[in-house]
Amino acid sequence: MSVNGETPATDRLPLNLAAGRDMVAIPGPSIIPERVLNAFARPMPDIYAGELVEVSNEILRRLPDLARTAGRGFITIGNGHAGWQMAISNTLNRGDRVLALESGFFAVVWGEQSAVSGVDVEVLPGTERDPVDPEALHDRLVADAQHEIKAVLVSHTDTSTSVRNDIASLREAIDRSGHPTLLMVDCIASMACEPYEMDAWGVDVTVAASQKGVMVPPGLAFVWAGPKALAAFEHANLRDGYFDWGPRLEPEVVYQHYAGTPPVSHLFALREAFAMMDEEGGLVARWERHHALAEAVWAAVDGWSTPDGIGFNIEAEAHRSWAVTSIQTGRIDAHELRRICLEGSGLTLGIGIGSLPDQSFRIGHMGYLNPTMLLGTIATIEATLIAMDAPIGGSGVAAAAAAIGSRLTDRVATDSS
Ligand SMILES: Cc1ncc(COP(=O)(O)O)c(C=O)c1O
Repeated sequence: MSVNGETPATDRLPLNLAAGRDMVAIPGPSIIPERVLNAFARPMPDIYAGELVEVSNEILRRLPDLARTAGRGFITIGNGHAGWQMAISNTLNRGDRVLALESGFFAVVWGEQSAVSGVDVEVLPGTERDPVDPEALHDRLVADAQHEIKAVLVSHTDTSTSVRNDIASLREAIDRSGHPTLLMVDCIASMACEPYEMDAWGVDVTVAASQKGVMVPPGLAFVWAGPKALAAFEHANLRDGYFDWGPRLEPEVVYQHYAGTPPVSHLFALREAFAMMDEEGGLVARWERHHALAEAVWAAVDGWSTPDGIGFNIEAEAHRSWAVTSIQTGRIDAHELRRICLEGSGLTLGIGIGSLPDQSFRIGHMGYLNPTMLLGTIATIEATLIAMDAPIGGSGVAAAAAAIGSRLTDRVATDSS
């Protein structure tokens, strides 16, 4: 109802500021570049000859470089869970024991999935706030005198806690124990975001997926196998007719690489994503960008932090992921924070996963991301904290901008006169 042409304040809807481009800062699926999305918009080609065959060959030729291995790379249609299944079914036998190393949610769930296939799963307990302890792994393997454990499952970055595990140290612990187990690493959150050296770190199987650092919509999983994994494949009785590496190792036609019709549109999109990675300067340049962006997030969290409010889930910087940050909110209601970010500003943040879902949230900072996008996210969170009258130690925005600024100095023209 209007009085003299004025709408009384009590009748007004909340001011709508969210009428621009939305920002999704969840830890996957990440933002997909328009170039990659546009690559989907093509008619279907011949799948037995021509460009699609060339694209598939190029992708499969390049795949080992992504994981830094001289081993074999496989692609399956599916999400990360499909990659997990391909890894397990091609290397293990019914009744084998696997040891899932807990540092959050995902390696444990990988273990639970394997159990459905007939594998005996044991969890090496860990916390939600620390990386896996290599000594605990060492001691468990030494105790396994009969070598019943056939595979160790671990997440490189666990997206739920945002911890990054030290894979080289875990390999060293395995070697020191003299145990012959396979080491299988889930790089679904970290691939193309954080340094990863499959061969140099002695990893036998690596699993990743398309929808995070690789910048392609969900639908492709990648599995890499080193020599020990390929030897295990020879006698693995969990093999099935779909994920089987057999026909994919010596395919006569592209069709066999994918156990059927190739994921045509995804392959064109993946080629475009590879081209964008090349233009950026390759993997090392990507890792450095992710590190710089992660440092800006950490600076913001440091700036906001108070004893009863915002804080890191992973305290030690060396153990923090460069792709995702899990933030504890203390007495600030994390659901409200996320709701107001979304409804008020069009920003979607990641939910808290773990024992503090009401008091934590996550920022995904992976894939196609630059300071403009990330600083917008950080500033929106700060604006929301201000709106909620939440306790904050200081400006996270200023701290994040300073962190980014310190990385831009080599772009500043110097006066040579
Ligand atoms: C580390 C990690 N592993 C596995 C998965 C499961 O992948 P998907 O949901 O694609 O099956 C995820 C998903 O977020 C993940 O972050």
